[in-house]
Amino acid sequence: MELKEFKARRSDLMQMVGEGSIVIIPAAPERKRNRDVYHRYRQDSDFFYLTGFVEPEAVLVLVPGREHGEVIMFCREKDPLKETWDGKRVGLEAICDLYAIDDSFPINDIDDILPGIIEGRDKLYCTMGIDSDFDKKVMNWINHIRENSRKGVHPPHEIVSLENILHEMRLYKSPFEIKMMKRAAKLSAQAHIRAMQICKPGMMEYELDAEIVHHFMKNGATYAYPSIVGGGENGCILHYIENNTPLKDGDLVLIDAGAEYDHYAGDISRTFPVNGKFSAEQKAVYEVVLEAQLQAINAAQPNNNWNQPHEVVVRTITQGLIDLGILDGAVDDQIERAGYQQFFMHRTGHWLGMDVHDVGDYKVNGEWRMLEKGMALTIEPGIYISPSKSVDEKWWNIGIRIEDDVIITSKGNEVITKDAPKTIEEIEKVMA
Ligand code: GLY
Ligand code: MN
Ligand code: MN
Repeated sequence: MELKEFKARRSDLMQMVGEGSIVIIPAAPERKRNRDVYHRYRQDSDFFYLTGFVEPEAVLVLVPGREHGEVIMFCREKDPLKETWDGKRVGLEAICDLYAIDDSFPINDIDDILPGIIEGRDKLYCTMGIDSDFDKKVMNWINHIRENSRKGVHPPHEIVSLENILHEMRLYKSPFEIKMMKRAAKLSAQAHIRAMQICKPGMMEYELDAEIVHHFMKNGATYAYPSIVGGGENGCILHYIENNTPLKDGDLVLIDAGAEYDHYAGDISRTFPVNGKFSAEQKAVYEVVLEAQLQAINAAQPNNNWNQPHEVVVRTITQGLIDLGILDGAVDDQIERAGYQQFFMHRTGHWLGMDVHDVGDYKVNGEWRMLEKGMALTIEPGIYISPSKSVDEKWWNIGIRIEDDVIITSKGNEVITKDAPKTIEEIEKVMA
């Protein structure tokens, strides 16, 4: 763990909110699956970003200028009996050394202790609307202070959303974060190669999914989101995750799968023929998507704005669909009336980081934001021709998306998922 980096993030944040403020950030709640069984725990990204601490039932409080310590953690106490059942806990003492916390308190005492720390602070920063139970707690702490106002104490005058400041910080990835993202990207690429290599007509979609998850878990990672494995028509359903259909000879299969490594996500889509050989029609559409993707990657540069890669994709895909006779008329006309949206209905990408659809604004003061060094994004154009479309039957069931992960550098960009085969030649060779 990069303790120095977590400390630096906290002091940067404290400097930005200023003395007289208080910041409160809870760990993710545990989520029940059914009865007494819980989903595998995953720490909240904001909380992890500032602490590196992975236990549930914890609250980080930053109090810039507080004499007895600016960094406070409420967490679970050591408890040998509970630890026998549910696993080890760091506890109040060790957390101060291991995570550079100034002052720690039992999470069960938070209602008694925290109002006393909040009172007298002018501004309270927190994320609102993510965990309604936690929002209620914040209001209870504030009301508790209000009830004592005749003693001369006052609650904060302002409750401010923390998202703006914190998510702006998370948008720019540090060298350490980029290292984690490259690891996630590499594992994701390897998993796609494995899927290409074992794929055979007659297999179930979930067999490819299993191969992918196997690779992630065998390497100490997990999946950043449920994999999409869609053969033929299913490849034209954008959020298809049932993955329970046999893969047919002659169809394409679209896989969108990414590893999460130490809380950082990879996000790759590849599309390949179930039998290892592209048909003429599949090849033709694939080349359009690939050309759009390569051009968009080229446009993902500092001094270009967020929307430029998307504009490049819209133009290339529209021109490509006209050339294939799937759309008609003139390019500018088709772009203006968004004719391409029947076949390409999503945007070209999103920020990538701890969350697969990572935080950060796409517009600043109403304008598309400029791309800058350290930003990480996906480039993922696609063409999806489901059988209901009024196009020649020979194009039906061709669903193609090609998605890579890109880090903006000072001079251009780095594609961190380039290990995953992408050209027709590369894919047919890996599958041979
Ligand atoms: N895997 C989700 C996405 O590509 O946006
Ligand atoms: Mn994506
Ligand atoms: Mn994806």
